[in-house]
Amino acid sequence: MYDRIEKLKTEIHEFELTSVIDIENFRIKFLGTKNCLKELFTELKNIPVDQRKEVGQLLNSLKLLAEEKYTKNQQLHLGQDEIINDLDLTVPPEKNVLGSHHPLSLIRDRIISIFERIGFNTSEGPEIEDDWHNFSALNFAQEHPARDMQDTFFIEKGAREMVLRTHTSSVQVRVMESNKPPIRTISAGRVYRNEAISSRAHCFFHQIEGLYIDKGVSFADLKQTLLCFAKELFGTNAQIRMRPSYFPFTEPSAEVDISCSLCNQKGCTVCKHSGWLEIMGCGMVDPNVLNACGIDTKTYSGYAFGMGVERIAQLKYRVGDLRLYSENDVRFLKQFQAGV
Ligand code: DAH
Repeated sequence: MYDRIEKLKTEIHEFELTSVIDIENFRIKFLGTKNCLKELFTELKNIPVDQRKEVGQLLNSLKLLAEEKYTKNQQLHLGQDEIINDLDLTVPPEKNVLGSHHPLSLIRDRIISIFERIGFNTSEGPEIEDDWHNFSALNFAQEHPARDMQDTFFIEKGAREMVLRTHTSSVQVRVMESNKPPIRTISAGRVYRNEAISSRAHCFFHQIEGLYIDKGVSFADLKQTLLCFAKELFGTNAQIRMRPSYFPFTEPSAEVDISCSLCNQKGCTVCKHSGWLEIMGCGMVDPNVLNACGIDTKTYSGYAFGMGVERIAQLKYRVGDLRLYSENDVRFLKQFQAGV
C-alpha cells in the first residue's frame, strides 16, 4: 500500500500539464468519478487497524495534492481553449436555422390581416358541430344533398347527431347568435368532407369566411370589399367578376372569379385558357338565416363570403397538389422559411 501511494505521488508530481487537454486528462485520472485513488480508499478497510489512520492520512494528502495541482494549472491555462481549438473569433457566427411557417398559415394570416385593416375582427367556432349551426340555421332544407353521407362526416354524440363541420359558414351562425349588429367578422379554420384523397380533393381543407351585418348593407358593398381584397392580395391590376350562383344561405348568391395573374389573362393551363380563376362564393345573407339567428331583417341586411385557403395558396405559390399541404414533407415546408 505504501509503495502504491508513493508511486501515485510521483505520478502526480510528474504529470505534465501543458494544455487544457492534459488538465482534463489529469482530472479524469486523479479526481474524476472513477479516479485511481478511489480504489485505494476502498481498500482501506483491509488495512490493520493500527495502520489505518496513518494510511488514511496519506491517502487524503495524496488527494489534496492532486486537487491543488489541478486548480493551480486550471487557472494558469484558463482561456487557452480557444487557441487549442483554433477558434477564430473574427469568423462570423453560423446562421441560425429558422423554422418555417406552413404555407397555409402564411396565406391565412395574410388574408386575415387584409380584412382586419378594413375593420373586420376574427372569430372561431368548433370543428365538431351540430346540425343546426352547420346546416339548419343556414337554410339547408332537410333533404338538401349537402347533408348526404357522401359529403358529411357524421358523429354520434349521445342522443344528438354531430358532424365535422363541412364549411366555416357555421361560425357565421354562432357569431350572429351571440352578437348584435353591426357585425364584421372573419373566421378561418379547418373543414371536413367525405372525399377520396387525390391531388385535387382532400377529406379536410381550410376555409376563410367573412360576414358583415349592419343597416343598409348592399351588394355594392360586397363587391367593393372583395375588389379591395383581390387588389391587396394579388396586386393592383387584379380584377374580379361575379357570376350568379346558388347557396342556401345567401340570396342572391355569386361565384367570384379573379383575373388570372399567371398569364395576364392571355390564357394558360391554370385558368384553363379563360383568363379567370374561381376563388370564392358570396352573396347577401338570406333573410331566413338572419331570422334563424335572431336578427331583425327589417333593420339589418348583410353579406357573406367564403373561400378555400388551399385554392388561394395554389394561386400564390403554384402548388396544385393538395396532398402536399398535409404530408409534412420538410423538403416542401422548408421552401416557405421565414423571410423568404
Ligand atoms: N360555405 C360555402 C362552401 O363551403 C362557401 C360560401 C359561399 C360561404 C357563399 C359563404 C357564402 O359565406 O356567402 O362552399
